[in-house]
Amino acid sequence: MSAPIDLAAFPRDFAWGTATSAYQIEGAVTADGRGPSIWDTFSHTPGKIDNGDHGDEACDHYHRWPEDISLMKRLGTDAYRLSLAWPRIVPGGDGPVNAAGLDFYDRLVDGLLDAGITPSVTVYHWDLPQALQDRGGWAERETAEHFAAYASVVAERLGDRVTQWATLNEPLCSAWIGHLEGRMAPGLSDLTTAVRASYHLLLGHGLATQAIRAAAPGAQIGLVTNHSTVAAASTRSEDIAAAVRMDGHTNRWWLDPVYGRGFPADMRELYGVDLPERPGDLDTIAAPLDWHGLNYYFPATVVDDPEGPVPYAREVRLPDVPRSGLDWQIDADGLEALLMRLTDDYGLSRIYVTENGSAFPDTRGPDGAVHDPERTRYLEQHVAACARAVRKGAPLAGYYAWSLLDNFEWAYGYDPRFGLVHVDYPTQTRTIKSSGHRYAEIISAHRQAHG
Ligand code: FCB
Repeated sequence: MSAPIDLAAFPRDFAWGTATSAYQIEGAVTADGRGPSIWDTFSHTPGKIDNGDHGDEACDHYHRWPEDISLMKRLGTDAYRLSLAWPRIVPGGDGPVNAAGLDFYDRLVDGLLDAGITPSVTVYHWDLPQALQDRGGWAERETAEHFAAYASVVAERLGDRVTQWATLNEPLCSAWIGHLEGRMAPGLSDLTTAVRASYHLLLGHGLATQAIRAAAPGAQIGLVTNHSTVAAASTRSEDIAAAVRMDGHTNRWWLDPVYGRGFPADMRELYGVDLPERPGDLDTIAAPLDWHGLNYYFPATVVDDPEGPVPYAREVRLPDVPRSGLDWQIDADGLEALLMRLTDDYGLSRIYVTENGSAFPDTRGPDGAVHDPERTRYLEQHVAACARAVRKGAPLAGYYAWSLLDNFEWAYGYDPRFGLVHVDYPTQTRTIKSSGHRYAEIISAHRQAHG
């Protein structure tokens, strides 16, 4: 049974896409001069990744990209969000450019355009060249500067054909999960380092925005951030205050400086870490953008946790709510609420949902098909939530399903399957799941709704 979706709500030129990222799908980690990234190091460190998995082969997209483009066509999508691997293009982080790395993305972009699919390029999706990490990584200002130099290289090369650019993917995960919780590369757990990394990531975003604009004047530039709605688990004043802190940590710390409000004072005080500020940085961080990318997966409900780690708010697991794999709560209303917050509170004028999706343990049946009714329902519910937000005035210009393919899900390895297309890793066979077929139907029904 398909939930009714108000597809006529979406504008005629609404972009329907899928998303991936370089390290999660490409494999070929030593091909054509690619250097090591922090994810190569982290995934080969025993105990960091479930099952000892790593991205060495992943989906072998580096060699199979023509087939993957044909899958996008079969889904009927007209947009594709990919990321560029910095270690393929500037293997040492700064210094010499690797022509073969640029050539790969050149061919990929041409292949997409030939197929009528608009590329939306994310310059950084977590795969920092290891050489820069060896010099301190995002905790150091020079990494933000090298990032801008790398952004300029790719914009110069691809900017004649790519108009949609995002600087960073989810700086929250790079800073908080990578430097505070230690669950992602580079695997550090230090508040001062994490806060400095958060600052330099946002500075890098601002510097890269300037660099892309200079190199590709027609570029439409955005930032991709991930957010959760945050609710207090009770009406206790301590829990309500905890929810404000978690909202600061998850949402305001990332949006306020980018949209001209500076870093939130309550969170600066809570972290108690001096920001490595220099005059003019805040203006750089708040460089005007053309669009914002929202990645949304789950809501958060928190209690006060005075003895716990920053921000002294602990997520609680609600009973009797729907969940996807990874134990993530499913709450499509949260997507609607965040779109309205970006619209009404931050006054944004062009938004994309740049990631949204769910993991389930899919298997290929005896008939060779992959039936995934739960993911199909998740997709329908979240597209319907987008339609409600559009009716309420959200300037939503597109939706990218995470993900095109099952892929390397970071610290969780290959077990969680987020794809609309199933990947049988030993043979690299791709099979469109029933959710992928449903996505194709939604896309074509939207086109029909506009005659
Ligand atoms: C997001 C990441 C993406 C993917 C999804 C499930 O946080 O941006 O790479 O791992 O989660």
